[in-house]
Amino acid sequence: MMQVKLFFCLLLLLYPFTTARLCYAARSRFSGGSRKTVEVLNHLDRLNKPPIKSIKSPDGDIIDCVHMSRQPAFDHAFLKNHTIKTRPNYHPNWINNDEIKVSSKLNPSKDGQPSLEKHEAITQLWHSNGKCPKGTVPIRRTKKEDILRASSIKSYGKKKSFSTLAQPSSIDLDLTNQNGHQHAIVYAEGQFYGAKATMNVWNPKINQPNEFSLSQIWLLGGSFASDLNSIEAGWQVSPDLYGDNNTRLFIYWTSDAYQATGCYNLLCSGFIQVNNEIAIGGSISPISHYDGSQYDITILIWKDPDEGNWWMQFGNGKVLGYWPATLFSYLTDSASLIEWGGEVVNTASDGQHTTTQMGSGEFPQEGFTKASYFRNIQVVDESNSLRAPKDISTFSEQPNCYDVKTGSNGNWGNHFYYGGPGRNPKCP
Ligand SMILES: *[C@@H]1O[C@H](CO)[C@@H](O)[C@H](O)[C@H]1NC(C)=O
Ligand SMILES: *[C@@H]1O[C@H](CO)[C@@H](O)[C@H](O)[C@H]1NC(C)=O
Repeated sequence: MMQVKLFFCLLLLLYPFTTARLCYAARSRFSGGSRKTVEVLNHLDRLNKPPIKSIKSPDGDIIDCVHMSRQPAFDHAFLKNHTIKTRPNYHPNWINNDEIKVSSKLNPSKDGQPSLEKHEAITQLWHSNGKCPKGTVPIRRTKKEDILRASSIKSYGKKKSFSTLAQPSSIDLDLTNQNGHQHAIVYAEGQFYGAKATMNVWNPKINQPNEFSLSQIWLLGGSFASDLNSIEAGWQVSPDLYGDNNTRLFIYWTSDAYQATGCYNLLCSGFIQVNNEIAIGGSISPISHYDGSQYDITILIWKDPDEGNWWMQFGNGKVLGYWPATLFSYLTDSASLIEWGGEVVNTASDGQHTTTQMGSGEFPQEGFTKASYFRNIQVVDESNSLRAPKDISTFSEQPNCYDVKTGSNGNWGNHFYYGGPGRNPKCP
């Protein structure tokens, strides 16, 4: 049947343009059907590795426990002969290694100051239904619907454009406005071998499915042109990526300014996971409530000085895995810019600013239990030690929509509140 149609088309092509166009329409209808289905299934096959065990999460996710050596990372040409490192050679904070608290719960005390409560929080929803065996890694299974939500099979799990990054040193307002990405961040420039922060976890409202709201750490190397290297981790709400409005742990990397390389989570090969408890892309629970209990997660990313791999730790003891040095160019040496804070997409779909929230949806001046915070922000310096950054600056494209405010004190070290509601009388 197809051959007949194509032959017919070839004949028609000899005739004037109108018939050629008809012919093109027939061909694309054909390829829009079964070929796309086959491509989607092939892509799912590439992403979803055969599990040893699967766990159904209350949020609808399926978590596959995949043997560590069969995870997506090893599809990468650079990593074909890679020997998995199950633990880092070096840790900038070995001393506190016995601590295994993953998240903490903070309650306001009578004087309104945060007080730390000992608390073993459930960190991911799927934990209520099972565990992954040792030697496996939990991977959120990608479903057909996940891929079909993306504009193309290739774009699923990728960032849309290279200008999604806050460019504090040379701001092009026209560009950032056009692109619709808005930030409220704190940043430090220098020569860094890692970064750490404890970030408040919230569930900001998303106005349009193709918008998102995230809070994260960025480690950047290279220029803002096509060679930018970036490692990112934090929490995000992204209906397009996950099909729901849950707050999820995510990671991201690129070595060419968000063009061909890199992706979220384990949606392409790159990050090598070694931990059997945390599913990257999994929902985080519980989350903070306005004027109520506050929950936060701690993320540390650092470079192994011997092998050059970039490791990530979640909480104070869970080493999740690493980005092999071979993925990067500039980051093979060090990061030149660290950013902490929030980012949202404003599609301005009805000609007004989006109501998608950043952080808790409240402005920084609201303070503890109302606005979202990052506390104890630190960098890993040239001597591979954790310390407070010497100079920090803030950046926000439109402070009337989303803002940031820094502070410093004993318990919280360098910290800041950030976020906002988006559209409001001052941000039309
Ligand atoms: C992996 O090892 C095989 C066999 O030793 C070798 O032929 C191949 O070139 C290696 N590939 C890489 C990417 O190093
Ligand atoms: C996400 O939240 C928005 C409102 O903020 C709602 O319209 C939408 O239906 C929700 N999406 C899902 C998948 O629950």
